[in-house]
Amino acid sequence: MEQIDWGNIGFGYIKTDYNVRCRFSNGGWGDLEIHDTEYLNLHMAATCIHYGQEVFEGLKAFRGQDGKIRIFRMKDNALRMLDSCAGTLMAQLPIDKFEEAVLKAVKLNERFIPPYESGASLYIRPFLFGTGPQVGVKPADEYLFIVFVTPVGPYFKGGFQTTPFVIMREFDRSAPLGMGKYKVGGNYAASLVAGQKAHELGYSNIFYLDAKEKKYIDECGAANFFGIKNNTYITPKSSSILPSITNKSLMVLAEDLGMTVEERRVAVEELETFEEAGACGTAAVISPIERIDDYDEKKSYVFSPDGKPGPVCEKLYNKLRGIQYGDEPDTHGWVTVLE
Ligand SMILES: Cc1ncc(COP(=O)(O)O)c(C=O)c1O
Repeated sequence: MEQIDWGNIGFGYIKTDYNVRCRFSNGGWGDLEIHDTEYLNLHMAATCIHYGQEVFEGLKAFRGQDGKIRIFRMKDNALRMLDSCAGTLMAQLPIDKFEEAVLKAVKLNERFIPPYESGASLYIRPFLFGTGPQVGVKPADEYLFIVFVTPVGPYFKGGFQTTPFVIMREFDRSAPLGMGKYKVGGNYAASLVAGQKAHELGYSNIFYLDAKEKKYIDECGAANFFGIKNNTYITPKSSSILPSITNKSLMVLAEDLGMTVEERRVAVEELETFEEAGACGTAAVISPIERIDDYDEKKSYVFSPDGKPGPVCEKLYNKLRGIQYGDEPDTHGWVTVLE
């Protein structure tokens, strides 16, 4: 195998040896198949292409100091995918099949799991899409589920760092009764222009407000938001955000640390009162926020004047990463150790 410089890989696609597939046809799921090609032979009228019948997931496997491979909260991703499939009228993959496919894909590509010291990990991408042809707007009668894996570098190359974010009211990601709570491809297409503008302006990503009133925080880029004040972890409750598995984990860890947890609406003005703030998701665990600029109101909310992550963000980050890499005990049963 060509030598991979584990410490210097980014979040890109690196080819691995195998992907695992499962087909749905004639009303049922088939057996898992192992493939070594990265390509698909797809009907040009497949519903995934025309009508967006596509859902995906993202999770990671970590190599511990003890050499063991750990996969984080795989069942929660399986459940979220079931939900996304229900929201797009797609065939629902049984949880055990999802788990079996993920384990197989990781095992077959074990040589691509980065060493513990690198801080890198193996990103796992399960996805499911309509392959059956339709011309009218209707769900397909055939589906394909695939899991591929690819090694990804540490999110923070120069150590745990803060970055700035921006509120821009000219963009919505999803509607209150729309698709925001599902992990469907269309949501990401809808975020590309806004993300590009935020990057061009020098920000890590955009903060979306609730599309109806433009009053409350929804989420930021492809991550949930949380704020910290008075020993309390506060995160938005909204029907248009993705239920982040990282956020769910951080809420439990915050309680373990003796903090109060509040999941409720968070008005933009409340940003003023937070001692710390962060964006959370599988990619970074926590991306601590230096400041949030309100582009329209010409106002800044600063959380980290010295650019350093706050103590609560740091504690939560270390705790969750510790569990993922096996340095901390898995007291909540979140980790699957690869046999
Ligand atoms: C829109 C969106 N919000 C939040 C998240 C964070 O979710 P998780 O913690 O499950 O990765 C993601 C990433 O998956 C996302 O795409």
